[in-house]
Amino acid sequence: MTEFTIDDLHIPQSIDAPDALDFIEMTTVRNDIEAEIVGNYDLAYSAAELLPHWLDPYDPKIAYVARVDGRIVARGILNWRIEDDVDEAWLEIEVLAAFRRAGIGAALYDLLATRAAAERLRPWQSYVLHKAADGETLPSPTGFGAVPLADPGTRFLLGRGYELQQVERFSRLPLPLPTRWFDELAERVRVAADAGYRLVRWVGRTPEDRVADLAVLHQRMSTDAPSGGLDYAEEQWDETRVRTLDDLRAASPRLILVTAVEYVPSGTLVAFTELEVPLERERAVSQADTLVLREHRGHGLGMLAKLANLKYLEDTHPGHPSVTTFNAEENRHMLAVNEAIGFMPVGYGGGWKLDVTP
Ligand SMILES: CC(C)(COP(=O)(O)OP(=O)(O)OC[C@H]1O[C@@H](n2cnc3c(N)ncnc32)[C@H](O)[C@@H]1OP(=O)(O)O)[C@@H](O)C(=O)NCCC(=O)NCCS
Repeated sequence: MTEFTIDDLHIPQSIDAPDALDFIEMTTVRNDIEAEIVGNYDLAYSAAELLPHWLDPYDPKIAYVARVDGRIVARGILNWRIEDDVDEAWLEIEVLAAFRRAGIGAALYDLLATRAAAERLRPWQSYVLHKAADGETLPSPTGFGAVPLADPGTRFLLGRGYELQQVERFSRLPLPLPTRWFDELAERVRVAADAGYRLVRWVGRTPEDRVADLAVLHQRMSTDAPSGGLDYAEEQWDETRVRTLDDLRAASPRLILVTAVEYVPSGTLVAFTELEVPLERERAVSQADTLVLREHRGHGLGMLAKLANLKYLEDTHPGHPSVTTFNAEENRHMLAVNEAIGFMPVGYGGGWKLDVTP
């Protein structure tokens, strides 16, 4: 029988502080577990990159870590929402493969569930990485995508009464992009200009005159990205929240490249897409949000913004091996854009829910 202990994870204010060692070790364990699932370190964050996300006042969370012989081998995280009258809880448990089937996952779950119940949070939801495996699968109720039935995460959540609500595809685009795309981009810029649209781009902090527009775009992102049967209440964004995100991102070594689309007649931004770029050239770039406001869809602005941001990446930070992204399997428009550019599926994310009675 494996002996383990579980403690609260202390969240340091800085990665250089003497009390940051547990957070740094937790980050390594996170990266190792996710690499065991997807087969590479494309999803890895350094502790300095991860910490700002943990200090986000708009995304509160607590975590526990399990140790065997003093070494962290697993983590359990509980997130909740800051919006009034939104009680959603998000639970995440990850155990290093060598320490599974020893009751660690169950013990972490029980602690998270006790805390979620005490805070009267509901429903309880979980987003889980699944291998792109052969074999029997559990289909998503959205009608798009499936997760492997034999996957330990599937067994674990089914055993606790959770139901699959949505499947996301995890995809990878090898870089550099074939140059023909950049010829196509030039043509798309011309066509968009005729319809009244122009590209705007920046690195890092949102320009002062675009902050209000970004608040609208982020808030719409929280309702317009498909969420299947998961509960995801609308986020509330204002200029303070945009600036808080800018500050958190400035505290991370990753750079954020943003390409947005302005509708020239109104001078407002109607679409945006973001890439998160690690400093080290050998590491994968992450695609973050992409959104075209509903009333401006159908003009190819999603493809235009994505291609333009990839060109921006090639021009300013060449040499990264790939871009990774997650998209809901039912989000056929976004997947069509990504597939056309060359993104290939490499794994899946399952969205799970347990309706907890008050
Ligand atoms: C899912 C995961 C957390 C389980 O961790 P673990 O320490 O092996 O879990 P435990 O030993 O405490 O087992 C807990 C339960 O899951 C079941 N289980 C875990 N892995 C399983 C597998 N491969 N096949 C069948 N059942 C499995 C056990 O039977 C046990 O059921 P019980 O409590 O009813 O007896 C671990 O495999 C993991 O980290 N996977 C990747 C992340 C993930 O999928 N997380 C899902 C929860 S958010």
